[in-house]
Amino acid sequence: MKPTRITSWHISCGSDTERSLRESIFSIANGYIGTRGFRPDERGKHAAWRSTFISGFYEYIRPGITDLVNQPDFSAMALRLNGEDTESMHVFDFTQSLDMSCGLLEWSFFLESRDGLRTKIKMEKFISMANRHIAALRISVMPVNWSGSLYLETGIDASVQNLPISDNQLHNNIEFVQMWNIPEIKPIDGGAVLTAKTFPSHRQVTMAYVLNADENAALTTDDYSVTSVLETTLKCGTCWQAEKLVAVACFRDGDSENIARSELELIRHESFDALLDRSKKAWGRLWETSDVVLEGDETWQGGVRYIIFQLLQAAPRHDPHASIGARGLTHGRYKGCYFWDTEIYMLPMFTMTQPEIAKNLLLYRYNTLPDAVKSAKNFSAKGARYSWMASDTGFEQCETWDTGCCEIHVTADIAFAFGKYTASTGDDQFLCCYGTELYIQTARYWVDRFNYSAKEDRYHLLFVKGPDEYCGVTSNDFYTVSMARQNLRLAIDAVSEMKQRWPEEWQDLSSRLSFNDNEIAVWQNIIDKSVLTFDEKRGLWLQDVTFEYMEPLDIKKEKDGDKPLYLRIGYDRLQRYQVLKQPAVLMYMALCPEDFSKDEIETAWNYYEPKTLHDSTLSFGIHALVASRLGKTPEAVRYFEKSLFLDLFDLMNNTGHEGIHMASLGASWQALIFGFGGLSHDGEYFKVVSRLPEQIHAMRYRFFFKGHPYEAEIKQGDDPIIRELT
Ligand code: BGC
Repeated sequence: MKPTRITSWHISCGSDTERSLRESIFSIANGYIGTRGFRPDERGKHAAWRSTFISGFYEYIRPGITDLVNQPDFSAMALRLNGEDTESMHVFDFTQSLDMSCGLLEWSFFLESRDGLRTKIKMEKFISMANRHIAALRISVMPVNWSGSLYLETGIDASVQNLPISDNQLHNNIEFVQMWNIPEIKPIDGGAVLTAKTFPSHRQVTMAYVLNADENAALTTDDYSVTSVLETTLKCGTCWQAEKLVAVACFRDGDSENIARSELELIRHESFDALLDRSKKAWGRLWETSDVVLEGDETWQGGVRYIIFQLLQAAPRHDPHASIGARGLTHGRYKGCYFWDTEIYMLPMFTMTQPEIAKNLLLYRYNTLPDAVKSAKNFSAKGARYSWMASDTGFEQCETWDTGCCEIHVTADIAFAFGKYTASTGDDQFLCCYGTELYIQTARYWVDRFNYSAKEDRYHLLFVKGPDEYCGVTSNDFYTVSMARQNLRLAIDAVSEMKQRWPEEWQDLSSRLSFNDNEIAVWQNIIDKSVLTFDEKRGLWLQDVTFEYMEPLDIKKEKDGDKPLYLRIGYDRLQRYQVLKQPAVLMYMALCPEDFSKDEIETAWNYYEPKTLHDSTLSFGIHALVASRLGKTPEAVRYFEKSLFLDLFDLMNNTGHEGIHMASLGASWQALIFGFGGLSHDGEYFKVVSRLPEQIHAMRYRFFFKGHPYEAEIKQGDDPIIRELT
């Protein structure tokens, strides 16, 4: 049985769905605060499992290494019915559900006490999309066959901990880290304000709340938490309710206590429903441009909305110093770090449907350019070198030496995303104010990173790891060289555009960067003389220089379902088999199909696809996209379904303990819109063709191009219709 039920706007689970999986899938956020979908009254095994995160809020756990901080739990709740603790009661008819139109999370269930007293419970929670500081909870309790006492405790609990997870996926960490010093707690009318500071950097968060109910609550505190305690008498068949309104602010916003207090003051007399209504309207505005309407399979429709929903709620839109981590705000896996996942996988959806959010995400990279310049220096290189894993600063967070030192394509990936953003939005100011500087600095890094061989008059890229992390450390990796060339081309074009269109700004920038016109010739030389290997006989682009020396592996025999092979075969051995973890040549072809003939892509598909293990969740959606463009619709559908339902159906068996795979969501969106929905552009014109599989009878999506909104409507058997919206 599938762990999740999916309808067009809702997902839901019963109690038979594993708890950590439920907690991941039902994560809710607003780009600022995010919480996993744990039931408020379930205290859980350990304080590290009650996870709440704030975008960009990291703290050091070792010199130079940060973790995304698990924030105080503002949902914390305990209930006693007729004197009995609900945690020990029998739960039945349990449903957890999420309304994706507005981000409302709901738990509804019955409890039965030892003496057979039955109670209907509903808990609701949302994090406001209208005001990033606000969250709200509502609890409804109705005794079914009894009358008697209710005891409710709820407040803010800072006794939560972090469980930093190693980069090494084979290493299971059991070391909990206490991030919070003893908080300061102040009572307010109807609630309290808790301000906590992290250890060691004193980064501050404030959570202020009020509990609105007919009864008055008494306030109790201990070292790490503040609790409102309320007692009342329930009547059989009558529903009792309480609402808790929360305001959250942190050091990144300024004076967190002041902000949280004033945000709470503004809403403290409002109802849960009124606040939800405002949030719903804000969600409505997001859905207006980002929704994709499918006719056909309802599960696909719901799955598609889920990927869009998760991406929209993960994206910081207020803060150009934060981005989206590999697991968004749904889990601390990868220490909450930012990867190429954001620019290459997730960004296209934002660029096409929410360009303001896309710009904000790119600004995070621009704002960490000074760190990338320092990082390049640390690697004895000029220019700017972006880190494989980054957090609130741009400094390297990857602790695995080969990946951290050699998976350098991220620098070119970021430049590429800048290029795509300006090409499709037409936001030239962005090129002038941010893009050109980033292109020049990153191009300078490539100049130092390539080795020139005077004997051959060629540039080699040595000691490099491509996106296929099972390729070891290699030379002239196809993906990295190709993306570095793109980066250099972007720099050349930007300099020429700056000179023509913004001579004054160019004057400032070029003198600030001590730019020398001779640099352009070197960039062009690297583009012309770097090495990619093409086998003329087979018409095949080779991944790198060593791939064909590797030993073949019978994947069908070795691989057990979707379980990653690194769990069974040691990395050292795995890297000497002729297998791919995820697409590499095909990855580049997915990004730049216009650089290749259909035959070249088909040949690459026939060669690499059977050798690909899909041990990374980044793999399926990209294969779906390439297959769809090649007209291999059954393969495209097979890969798309894997990517689309990866988390909802827990296909890799790790969504519960690792969180939602944000890059896979982005890849699914690209497969849907650029693949089945046939959208493409060359920077000047866009085009829509129909590649609908039989599962989609018709499809409607909106997008922006050069600042104008459009709607594409595609029906099986008909030509696509494009409307410019006003
Ligand atoms: C993948 C990388 C990805 C990282 C974070 C790894 O397993 O191989 O491509 O960036 O996960 O999602």
